[in-house]
Amino acid sequence: MISLGVRAGLEFETGLECFAVGLKDIARHTAVFAASGAGKSSLLARLIEELTLARGARTIVLDTNADYVHAQRINEQVWEHSGLSRWFCGTDTLDTFRARWENANILLASSLPLEPKPVPLKLEWGSLSLTKMGTFLGIQSSKNSLMFTFLRLNRSLAEGEGMAAEEVNVPYTMRGFLSIAREMRSYCLTGDCDLARKGTYETLIGNRMIGFEGEVLRYVAEVERVGEYPFWTNDSGDQSLCEHLRNEAVKTLIIDLQSLSTREERLILTSEVLSALWAHCRDRFRQKLMATPDVRDDRLPHFVVLDEAHSWIPEIAESEYERAVSEQLKTIAAEGRKYGIYLVVATQRPRKVHPDVLSECDSVFLMRILNPKDLQFIAERFGYSRDILRDCRAFSPGECFLLGGANDDLVRLHVSPRRTVEGGGNLTLD
Ligand SMILES: Nc1ncnc2c1ncn2[C@@H]1O[C@H](COP(=O)(O)OP(=O)(O)O)[C@@H](O)[C@H]1O
Ligand SMILES: [Mg+2]
Repeated sequence: MISLGVRAGLEFETGLECFAVGLKDIARHTAVFAASGAGKSSLLARLIEELTLARGARTIVLDTNADYVHAQRINEQVWEHSGLSRWFCGTDTLDTFRARWENANILLASSLPLEPKPVPLKLEWGSLSLTKMGTFLGIQSSKNSLMFTFLRLNRSLAEGEGMAAEEVNVPYTMRGFLSIAREMRSYCLTGDCDLARKGTYETLIGNRMIGFEGEVLRYVAEVERVGEYPFWTNDSGDQSLCEHLRNEAVKTLIIDLQSLSTREERLILTSEVLSALWAHCRDRFRQKLMATPDVRDDRLPHFVVLDEAHSWIPEIAESEYERAVSEQLKTIAAEGRKYGIYLVVATQRPRKVHPDVLSECDSVFLMRILNPKDLQFIAERFGYSRDILRDCRAFSPGECFLLGGANDDLVRLHVSPRRTVEGGGNLTLD
C-alpha cells in the first residue's frame, strides 16, 4: 500500500484515520497543484518514498531543485518534531521505516561529490538517434538539409565507413565524433586531412562540400559547442544514465538535474532519459506480446516525477530543446499508460502547463492555492465546483484534496511528513 497521510478534520474526533491507496490506484497520471510553501516538495518526497518501498514499481525522479538528492538518508528528527510527528500513522515509526529503507534500492545520479557517492550524469553520444543528434545540434533535416547531410556523413564515418573492421569503435564517443567533424573541416579548408581516410573523404564528402565551406564551418562549430557538455561518456568508462535506467534492479533513480550548469544541458539529459525510458518500456511490452500466455507478466509500472512542470511542459516551447522534451512528455501523457509509464507532474502555476498533459491526469492533489484564477481553472478542468475547492485557500502545509483518486471521491487529507533528508534545505525544522 502507498501510505499517504491521515484524513484531515477527523483526527480530534475519531483519532487518526490513516489514508493509503493501492499501487494500482496510483498507477495513473497525477498532477499536484500547490502554491509555494504549501508542502509540494514534501508530498512528492512522500510519494517517492512510498513508491520506492512498494515492491512492484520503479520511479524516475527528474529532480529540478536538488530536493531529493539526500533521499537515501533518514531524517530521524521528523518523528520528534512537534508540528510534524502527529501526522504519522501509528505503524509509521522510525524503526519500521529504518528497517525497510535499508533495503531500498535507490540510485542517485549527480555531478556533485555527494555522500553516499552518486553515479555521474553521463550519456553516450554514439547511441543517440540521428534525429536526436540533429535536435541537440540545432539542425533539422527539413530546415537545414545541407548541415543535416554533414551530420549524416559525420555519423557514418564515426560508425566506421571506410575503415578496417578492427579500427571501428561502436558506439563511438563524442570525442571520436568531434575529431571526425574537425577532419571534415580541415579537409574542406585545405583539401587535406590527417588520417588515412582521405580516399573516403574524397568519395563521400569532397564534392558535396565544395562551395559550402561556410556551412561546414557552422556545422563543426555546433558539434564543438555540444561536445563541450560535461556529460558525454568519452573515454571515462562510466556507465550511461540510460544503462542504469534499463537496470530494473534499480528501483528509484534520482537524477540531480540541478547539478548541471545550464538549462540546455538539463533538457538534453532529460530528453535522452525519456527516450531511453520509452524504449525500455516499449521493448518490455513487445516481449510480453510475443510471449506465450503462461509466461508471468513481470513488467513494472514506471513513475516519472517532475516538479516545476510548467517549465518542462509549457504551453509554448521557446527552444528546440524545450520543444523536444515537452513533446516527449506529451506523448507519455497520451500513450504512456499502454507501456506502464505514469507521470507525476507538480506545479505552482497550473495555467502555464500544457493542457494536453493536464487533461490526461486522472488524479489531482490540490494543496493550498491562493490565486482565484488558478482555482477556477482547476475546478473547470477537473469538473469540480469552485465552492468546494475554495477551502484549499486556508490549507496549512501538508493539507490537500485528492481529486479523482481511486473511488473518484474527493478526499481531504493531511499528508504524512517526508522521512528522508530534504536536499538544499537543512535539518532545523522549527
Ligand atoms: N505534511 C506536512 N505536514 C506539516 N507540515 C508540512 C508538511 N509538508 C510540509 N510542511 C511544512 O511546510 C514547509 C514547506 O514545505 P515544502 O514541501 O518545502 O513546500 P513547497 O515545496 O510547496 O514550497 C516545510 O518546511 C514544513 O515545515
Ligand atoms: Mg518546494
